[in-house]
Amino acid sequence: MSFLEVNNLNVEFNTADGIVRAVNNVNFSLEEGKILAIVGESGSGKSQTVFAIMGLLDQNGRATGSVKFEGEEILNLSITELNSVRAEKIAMIFQDPMTSLNPYMRISEQMAEVLIHHKGLSKTEAIQQSINMLDAVKIPEAKSRIRMYPHEFSGGMRQRVMIAMSLLCHPKLLIADEPTTALDVTVQAQIMHLLADIQKEFGTSIVLITHDLGVVAGNSDDTLVMYGGQVMEVGSTEHVYANPTHPYTQGLMSAVPRLDDKANKLRTIKGNPPNMMLAPVGCPFSPRCKFSQSICATKAPELLRTETKNHQRACHLAPEALL
Ligand SMILES: Nc1ncnc2c1ncn2[C@@H]1O[C@H](COP(=O)(O)OP(=O)(O)OP(=O)(O)O)[C@@H](O)[C@H]1O
Ligand SMILES: [Mg+2]
Repeated sequence: MSFLEVNNLNVEFNTADGIVRAVNNVNFSLEEGKILAIVGESGSGKSQTVFAIMGLLDQNGRATGSVKFEGEEILNLSITELNSVRAEKIAMIFQDPMTSLNPYMRISEQMAEVLIHHKGLSKTEAIQQSINMLDAVKIPEAKSRIRMYPHEFSGGMRQRVMIAMSLLCHPKLLIADEPTTALDVTVQAQIMHLLADIQKEFGTSIVLITHDLGVVAGNSDDTLVMYGGQVMEVGSTEHVYANPTHPYTQGLMSAVPRLDDKANKLRTIKGNPPNMMLAPVGCPFSPRCKFSQSICATKAPELLRTETKNHQRACHLAPEALL
C-alpha cells in the first residue's frame, strides 16, 4: 500500500465555451516521508491535480478516478469527511499567503483557532503550541510577534507563518502550491530549505508544485513532469535530472537559466501550450516537439517504465533517439 496513490485522475470544468479538460489520466504515487515535486509550464494542470486531491476544485469542476491516502479513498468525499482529512492529515499552503490569512486577525488568534477547533486545546495551550511552531519555522521572537497582524510581516515571514499554521495539527502530508513564487530568490531558497528541514524533523511527506526547475534539484526525492494535463515523465529527481528521457523535460531543463549562460537570458520552448478544450489526441506536446513523428499526433503514448527503477515516461520514441 502506498502512502498516497493517484490513479486515472481526470479533472474537467464546464464552461460557457465547452469542457476544459485540465487533468487527463494522471497516475502517481508518493512514499511516506518523501518529497515529490510537480513541475510544468503554466496551465499544465499542476494546481488542479492537487486541488482535486484536496476537494478544492471550483464549483464548475468535476474529478474522476481514484486518490487513496493511506489506503483510503479520499476523492470526492463529503465536506464533513473532507474537513477531518484536511488540516489533520493533509494540509495545503498556497502561493500567496495573504489569500489564506485573515488580514483583520492577529496571527495568535488565527493559529490558536485551528488548535482549539481541531484538537480541543484550551486557548493558553493553543497559543503556546502556536509559538512553538513559529519557533520551529524560525520566526525570530515568536513570542512577541505572534501578536502581530499578517501585514506586519514581510512576504517571506508571512509564508513561514502559513507553513507553521499548516503544520499545527502535524499533518502527514503537506501540499505546497508554488510556495515561493511571490518571493525574491534568496527568500525562496530559505523557504525551500525550511520545507526540507520540516520533512526531516517531522517526517512530513510533501508534494511541492513549482514551475521553477532550479528549485526542484536538491530539494525533492522524486520529480513529476506535467504537460497539457498529463504526466510526461516521473522518477527520482536524480535520474530525471541526470537523464531526462522526454523531449518536454529536456526542453524545460534547457530553459533553466544557467550562471554560465553568456547571453544570460531565459531560453523558452518554442510554441504555445495546447488548447485544453479539445479532447487530447496523441501526445499533447507533439505540436511543439522537435522529435515529433506521425504516430505522435494520432496515438497517445502510454506512461511506461524505463530500464531505471521507478522512472516512467510517456513518449513513443526510444530515449536514444532523443540524444
Ligand atoms: N474554474 C475553471 N474553469 C475552467 N477552466 C479552469 C478552471 N480552473 C482552472 N482551469 C483551467 O485548467 C487548466 C489547468 O490549470 P492549473 O491551475 O492546474 O494550471 P497550473 O499548472 O497550476 O498553472 P500555473 O503554473 O499557472 O499555476 C488551465 O487551462 C486553466 O485555465
Ligand atoms: Mg497553479
